[in-house]
Amino acid sequence: MNQKEMIERAKTHLEKLLKDQFSRIEKMNETKDFVDYKKLDKIVIGIVGGDGIGPFITAEAQKILEFLLQDEVKNGKVTFRVIEGLTIENRADQRKAIPDDVLEELKQCHVILKGPTTTPRAGDPWPNIESANVAMRKELDLFANVRPVKVPEQGIDWTFYRENTEGAYALGSDGIHVNDDLALDFTVTTQEGSYRIIKAAFDYASKNKINKVTVVTKANVVKATDGKFLDVARQVAEEYPDVEWDDWYIDIMTAKLVDEKRRTQFKVMVLPNLYGDILTDEAAEFQGGVGTAGSANIGKQYAMFEAIHGSAPRMVDEGRAQYADPSSIIRGASMLLDHIGYQEKAKNLQMALDICGQFEKKIALTGRDDGANGAEYAEYIMNTLSDPNLEEKWTSFL
Ligand code: IPM
Ligand code: MG
Repeated sequence: MNQKEMIERAKTHLEKLLKDQFSRIEKMNETKDFVDYKKLDKIVIGIVGGDGIGPFITAEAQKILEFLLQDEVKNGKVTFRVIEGLTIENRADQRKAIPDDVLEELKQCHVILKGPTTTPRAGDPWPNIESANVAMRKELDLFANVRPVKVPEQGIDWTFYRENTEGAYALGSDGIHVNDDLALDFTVTTQEGSYRIIKAAFDYASKNKINKVTVVTKANVVKATDGKFLDVARQVAEEYPDVEWDDWYIDIMTAKLVDEKRRTQFKVMVLPNLYGDILTDEAAEFQGGVGTAGSANIGKQYAMFEAIHGSAPRMVDEGRAQYADPSSIIRGASMLLDHIGYQEKAKNLQMALDICGQFEKKIALTGRDDGANGAEYAEYIMNTLSDPNLEEKWTSFL
């Protein structure tokens, strides 16, 4: 192929990407309101095991949800729906990030609890299909990735609002391999896509009387897309005159998170997809690692909750899957409860997780047979939840 032909081929590719983005924008503009769970007769909670240790830890989180929602299940307000088939084997077989029948089933649920799924990359034994996570966020339009990180004794209380459907991820599997010398990827920022995530962050700050939102970009260098994100932030900020805000660049932000004197000043942070991916892993490390953090993926119609760690295939290969720590996905489960209107149950579960994992630590997981297994740990959490003095107990540790 000569240069002219390569350019023509790239143009055709780009034209299709642009058309797809225009229709995505149209769809985004059509959906303005969030589902009101209180008005639903029945809430369907989908349970997706995923790959590797996923089915093991997800089963423990499901037990805890069933325990906390036993009355609601009895009176028909809540029902669980276990969805099979979101495994790397099935996805590889069908060469689809999410097989069609699985996607249909996901859409029958209001909220989903999902175990980690394997993300292939070039050179893996699997075809290089798109990440199931990324695909689900896009397909269900789960635009707000909310990731709280708390270390009370260090004064850390952060809530990250990571944009979840755009940025470097939107076309992450749709770049152009122009020829052996040249590859291009794209990053996407839209008006509505930026508006809805930044508004979600300001809304959260305003409702919870947190007087500080920090917008993180690299708008001095990535001028079109990050520039747009920052511009939209200025527009949204005008709607919230009572919420103070500032903007930081991602590089210095990453540095300031390790600055003990400065980092406690950050409260709510809102940022484009890839920066959010990176910064939230760093942040979770202060709390005890990615294994301890939960993650909510919230859209206007659907929401999905998950652990922020991966599927740990090595643990499965070594026969240790039952010793995997379910804390992160159980944190996800507590965010699910909060999201569908069970704030009290969510708060209790958070406290039980803190007591079991950070304070009391009667039993501990080591990831091996010299520690507790996931089922024993879930049992410990449920026993802790049953303590009528749960809140006093939790407070006594602070
Ligand atoms: C996360 C993960 C995913 C991401 C991977 C598994 C695709 O790292 O949820 O942060 O990059 O978003
Ligand atoms: Mg990540």
